[in-house]
Formats: sequence, structure tokens, C-alpha cells
Amino acid sequence: MAEELAINGGPRTAEESFPSTGNASGRDLGEEEIALVSEVIRSGRMFRYSGSMVGQFEKEYAEYLGIEYVLAVTSGTASLHTAVAALELNPGDEIITSPISDMGTYIGIVQSCCIPIFADCDPLTLNMNPESIEKQITDRTRAILVVHLFGQPCRMDEIMDIAKRHDLYVIEDCAQAHGATYDGQQVGTFGDIGCFSLQQSKQITAGDGGIIATAREEFHARARDFHDKYYDRTGRSQDRSGVARIGINYRMNEVTGAVALAQTRKLKSILERRRASAERLVELIEQIDGINGPHIYPNTTDHSWWRFTFSIDQEALGVDNETFAKAIRAEGLPFGLGYVGNLMVGTKCLVDHVAYGDSKFPWEPPYGRDPEYDEADYPGAAWGESNLFTHAWTEGHTVEHAELIAQGLRKVADYYRSKK
Ligand SMILES: Cc1ncc(COP(=O)(O)O)c(C=O)c1O
Repeated sequence: MAEELAINGGPRTAEESFPSTGNASGRDLGEEEIALVSEVIRSGRMFRYSGSMVGQFEKEYAEYLGIEYVLAVTSGTASLHTAVAALELNPGDEIITSPISDMGTYIGIVQSCCIPIFADCDPLTLNMNPESIEKQITDRTRAILVVHLFGQPCRMDEIMDIAKRHDLYVIEDCAQAHGATYDGQQVGTFGDIGCFSLQQSKQITAGDGGIIATAREEFHARARDFHDKYYDRTGRSQDRSGVARIGINYRMNEVTGAVALAQTRKLKSILERRRASAERLVELIEQIDGINGPHIYPNTTDHSWWRFTFSIDQEALGVDNETFAKAIRAEGLPFGLGYVGNLMVGTKCLVDHVAYGDSKFPWEPPYGRDPEYDEADYPGAAWGESNLFTHAWTEGHTVEHAELIAQGLRKVADYYRSKK
């Protein structure tokens, strides 16, 4: 007989809560960070161009990634804005991106007066689908901004091939994918510029922070100038009459740099812990009839497990997603349905084209065309949003946590299958 579910008054599978990225339970923050932060404070050098922590962080992250240039900024959103700015595009130019991501993916496009155009996603991964990207290319397209969602790389071989054939820049949004590799290559090193986030929920964190990585000296120089008001830091001149462009201030401070540096030194070990527990869960889910574990591309060499995903075969289990979601929550399993709850392409400001005053700039002529954004045009992304169960994985998750999750999933799956 199937075990009684917690939702029907039976015993819960998990009595204790799982580690969370929101607090110390799922974060590797400790003495190393405290020591470097103390060093900064004792030195009295809080500004990146007075101290050395941010510079050292940039150097060590560049070594980790195996790329020439890394620039630290204040957030993932800032890194994407700076990356788009570094391309020096014109108002109304189009950038193809994902219909499901964080707002930070889109803000830099529109703040650079460019227009986001959306490609559909692979429903099983919510990563952008290369065939759909190619269909969205127009004579105004200048770049593809790929989003490596949940810690798995997009299909970069195919995407880079499309970019090459159509002469497009590629920016990689790796906010959720520190350390992920495809065909053995780190995300953030395929395209022209890679962007990372150090926000609280990411594989490594400084609370907030961002990284821009590039192999191209001219993009690095433009990004560095843009993020620092186009000031000349060489010390050659105090004269600011020659400031060449309107930039911004996205400079990382030394305290943040100290935490980011300590976290970078732990990145390999953090990813190993995430992988050991997540891969155990993949293995166990494979043995449960009616539950499909995360879809991993054959060329994904390292998933970096920002979120763990699975879907259920509703017909085989005789249960709908919503009922299954309630039952596993009652068991104490932390998974919820979907990612952000809607497709970002359907967000009010994007649909209504609201960025600058009461104009529709840059979406309106003479700068750009006026594309209509409709969630119905993205069935792959919509399927994933309403059918993928997701949970924020952390380095605090152990193999035992994975085994407990699998036990609860099996219990719920067996129960509904037996009631069919
Ligand atoms: C895919 C993606 N892009 C961009 C961002 C923006 O990063 P941040 O929150 O550091 O500005 C995030 C973070 O939430 C993200 O998940």
C-alpha cells in the first residue's frame, strides 16, 4: 500500500528546512571574507582606485575564467548595461534575447536605447533556442544576448555559428552560471563579452556585484571608461574637459571587492559541492517512474546548478502539476512550479514600451520599429514556466539532502500512480 501523504495527514518526509541562498545555511561565507574586509577597513582605502582588493579580485577571476580582461562592477544588471554600452550601438538597434530572465537582462538594452527582441526557449531547459534566434534576425539586429539559465550553458556551438554567419555580437548573461562549461569551455568566454552577477542568490556572492569578462582589449577599455564616467585614471591629466562620452558610475568598492575575492578563491570548491549533491539527485530521479530530471545537453560539460529542475508526466502519474506541487510542499520539499511566475516578455513596461518620459523611445520611429510583445509567441518558454518544478540549489545541499528529496518525490509519485 502506498504511504499516506503529508497533505492527507501522513508523516512529512522532511522535518527540517533545506539550505537557502538567502542566509548562512546555503552560503560559504566566513573567516576568509571577514579577514579581507577587515584589511580594507583598517587600510582606510574604500575606493577601488585607492586600494587593491577590486584589482586583485579582477585578476583572480580572470585567471579562473582563463580570459584576458575582467572588470568588476556593482551588479549583474550593471555588467549587462556596461557590456551593451561597450558595443557602442545606435538607438533603435535590435538585440535578440530570452523572453524569460531577470529584468537585469533587459534594462541595459533599453538604457542603451536599443530594442530587445525575443527568441523562444527550449521548454525543457528554458535556454534560448538557436533556431528561434535565427528567425528573429532582421537588418536592425546587431547582437544576441544569450542567457544561460539555471546554471546550464545555452547551445553555444550553434549560437556562435549563427552569430558568425550574420555578423552579430554576442553578449553572454552568465548571472546564474559561474563555472558552467560547454564542450569544456567556460561560459562567458564564447561571445564578445561575458557578464556575471554576485547578488545574494548566485554561486558566489558579495550581496551585490557584477563582472564583465572579455578577450578584446577595445571592449574592456570601453567598459572600463563607461563604468567610471569616462574619467582618465592614468594620472596623466586632471583636466576633465576632454571627457569623451556620457558614462555612469558602476564602480565596485573595496569592501565588496574583498568579499568577491574571498568568494572567487572558494568558487571551485563551492561548485564541487553543488555538483556532488545535484548529480546524486539526478541519478535518483532517473529511477522514479513518471518524473523527468533536468534535461542536460550532451555538450554540457559542467552544469553549475543555480536551480535544480524536474518535470512530471501528469498522465503517467494521474496527477496535475498543481496538485503534485502542493503534495511535495506538504512533504517539506522546497520545490515550486516555474521560475519567475510569468514570461518577462509580457512585463508591463516592455509590452507598453515605457522607459523615457511619456514617449515610447527607443521603440518608436524614427529610431526603431514598434514590435509587439505577446507571450503567446513563446510556447517553449511558456511550457517551461508552467511545467518545470524548480528549487534554488546551494553549496549547503548535501548528498543526504538529495536523498531526502528523492525519497519524498518517490513517495508522492508512488501514491498518485497507485490511485490511478
Ligand atoms: C539571468 C540574470 N540576469 C541578470 C541578473 C541581474 O543581476 P543583478 O541582480 O546582480 O543585477 C540576474 C540576477 O538576478 C539574473 O538571474
